This record gives sequence, structure tokens and C-alpha cells, in this order.
Amino acid sequence: MKTLTHATFTEFVESQNTQKSASVGPDGEPSTARASAEPSATPVTADAGDDPEVDGKEEEKDDEPAGFSREAEIEKLRTSGSMTQNPTEVSRIRNISKVQFGRHDLFPWYFSPYPEQFSLEDVIYICEFCLSYYGDDFAFNRHRKKCSLLHPPGNEIYRDDYVSFFEIDGRRQRTWCRNLCLLSKMFLDHKTLYYDVDPFLFYVMTTRSEKGFHLVGYFSKEKESADGYNVACILTLPQYQRKGFGRLLIQFSYALSKIENKLGSPEKPLSDLGLLSYRQFWSENILDVLLNNCGKDDKVTIESISSVLSMTTQDVEHTLQALKMQVYHKSDHKIVIPEKLIKQREKQMGKVRRTIDSERIQWKPPVFTASNRTWGW
Ligand code: ACO
Ligand code: ZN
Repeated sequence: MKTLTHATFTEFVESQNTQKSASVGPDGEPSTARASAEPSATPVTADAGDDPEVDGKEEEKDDEPAGFSREAEIEKLRTSGSMTQNPTEVSRIRNISKVQFGRHDLFPWYFSPYPEQFSLEDVIYICEFCLSYYGDDFAFNRHRKKCSLLHPPGNEIYRDDYVSFFEIDGRRQRTWCRNLCLLSKMFLDHKTLYYDVDPFLFYVMTTRSEKGFHLVGYFSKEKESADGYNVACILTLPQYQRKGFGRLLIQFSYALSKIENKLGSPEKPLSDLGLLSYRQFWSENILDVLLNNCGKDDKVTIESISSVLSMTTQDVEHTLQALKMQVYHKSDHKIVIPEKLIKQREKQMGKVRRTIDSERIQWKPPVFTASNRTWGW
């Protein structure tokens, strides 16, 4: 994931404002959709896909803006669970006050590099399907009448009676993915918004209604991760948080790693909420493996847990340490399960929880050509 400075955000916004429409449909076919004429609207409309070749090169910088310290800024988790920043930082950084998204009003937590004029609006309107943004309801309503997109612009690779997952290529659906990043940046404190979406795939989770497929959350994943990350950024939209969707997203990311026959780990650093969710996921799953093995002859090792769960040995080991489950005994490592943890887990198992049925995943690891990281078929 690339780190962007505020200067780069501005360049991004300017390039969005001046971007010419040269749209192609989701299947790469030329589309008749054209950039909206409204000055306050998203540069590319509705169901238009993107031509991978149209955008120019943008410079990305790795340095942080001066005087911006994440640690100082995020002081604690609020009781609501969302992250808080000190008030001066909020006023300096958060630029959008309210977002109307589908039937929900969202109240952003952090800065997101929408074009500057949007920060003057009391509310901005985002189309929940194509993620185009509008500064006034007239333009937005006009857009809604024209917008024909009813689901994220990619292949549906998973469906159960609760959610669907779509796979979207950042290179083929550049505008949609950038719009997703703009939206998610409002709830991510990372200054690591990746303007360059081309190297990523986006796994987007939706619920379904008669109106279409509604975005709940997503994770992005590098097409090739040198560090073995299976998630770059992960987000549940705030209106859906604390309902178990994050767990489903994380579970799905490991299910993909399993199919790839790889061990995965989320990109660091994790946000506070990311850490809480991952710790919980790792703990639950590791405990389940151990409890299932109780009384069996097979020796459970960090490596065997890691391989069953497609988690890196490092994440397994850190979790065991955090749960105080690793002990040294006669110069040997042993894994012990404290009684308290067994009780806790039994209590948790009493709750009905949705899970991903990995049998339903219709997915083969995509192959990319080395030169352009685009689809290899
Ligand atoms: N307070 C305490 N524990 C929490 C909280 C919270 N606010 N949120 C999640 N957890 C823990 C809990 O243990 C929870 O399990 P429980 O509800 O059974 O107790 C567990 O995580 C899973 O919770 P979910 O409801 O499944 O997670 P959610 O849908 O809320 O999504 C996520 C979690 C994606 C991290 C969400 O909080 C989010 O989008 N945050 C903003 C963006 C962000 O910080 N993303 C991670 C960045 S790091 C990275 O991208 C690699
Ligand atoms: Zn739309």
C-alpha cells in the first residue's frame, strides 16, 4: 500500500476534476456513459468501467506530512467503538460532515480527499451502487434516474442466504475502486490511501434486497504481495459495524488464502479497530483448533495451526503469547489452554454466528501477466 501526502491528495483531486471520460463498460466494451457535466459531480458516471490505459502517471510519496502523528492523534477508542482524534486534528483533517449513502446517513471520522468544493457542503450524496459523489440533491437525483448499476462491477464469487462477495480488479474498474477508496478513507485513519488502485483486487461484500446488492464492507488485496499480505485494507461501513460482518470479511480473506495454498496476514500497521477484530478472529480460531484436537494423539504445533488456518506462524505465535498459552516446560515449548479461555469460548459458541461456507466460493486465484498486472486471460 502506498502512502500519500496531502499534496498528493490534492493532485489526485485535481486529476479527478480534469479527468476526461474515456469509459469502457464493465466487460471492457466501450460504453456510451460519459462524464457528468455537473461541476460538483464525480468525474465518471454510473455503470461505466474504466479503460486501463487512460490515466496518466501520478507521483506517490512516502513521507508523512509534518507534525502528523498517528499515536498522538488517536487517543482512545470511544465507547461506541469508533476512533476518536483530538479536536484540533479533527477540524484540520475531517473535511466532509455528512454523507447520504443509500438509506443511511454517514458521519465521517477522518479526512478524505474529495474535491475541495465538497467540504463546503453540509451533506454530500454518494450513489450506493456506482459510488459517484454529488454536492447537491438535484444532481444526485438526476443521476439516480440514469444509474443502472445494481451491484459492484465485478464477478460474484460467493453467495449464501445472507451475503454475496464480488471480485473487482482495480485496473479494470479504476474509477469505481478509487471512489471506494475515497469512501472508505472517511473511516480509516491511515494516510495510506492508495490512489494507485491498479495493483489491487477488491473483495466487496454486499447484502441483497429487491433494490440491488448493498455495499456492506470490503477488503483490498494486492495482486502480488511481496510480504505475503492477504489483506491490504479492510472496512465495514459504520452502519454495519459490530454485527459480525468484519469477522466474515476476515474469514473470507483466509478462505482465499487457503485456496491459494498460502499463509496470509493483514498489512501492517493495523488500526485500533483492525487490531481488535483480528485479535478476536485469531484467538477464536486458534482456540477452536486446539479444543478440537484435545484428547487426540496428533501433536499440535504452531506450524500445524498455521497451516490449518492459513495464518502466518508469526500471527499464531503472537496470539498464543497474547493469550498466555505458550509455556516452557523442561526446555520444551508447550501450548496450554487456560480454563478461563475454555469457558469464555464455550460462552461465545452459544451465540449464533454467521460464517462463510467456503464450499460456496467460486474462485480460482487470478493469474496476472508480470508486465501489467492485469488479467492473464
Ligand atoms: N470495540 C471492541 N471490540 C471490537 C470493536 C469495537 N468497536 N469492533 C470490533 N471488535 C472486535 C470484537 O471482539 C468483535 O467481536 P464481538 O462483536 O463478538 O465481540 C470482533 O472484533 C469482530 O467484530 P465485527 O462486528 O465482526 O467487526 P466489524 O464489522 O465491526 O468490522 C472493522 C471490524 C472492519 C475493523 C471495522 O471496525 C472498521 O471498518 N473499522 C474502520 C476501518 C478500520 O480501522 N479498518 C482496519 C484497518 S487495518 C487494515 O486495513 C489491515
Ligand atoms: Zn450511480
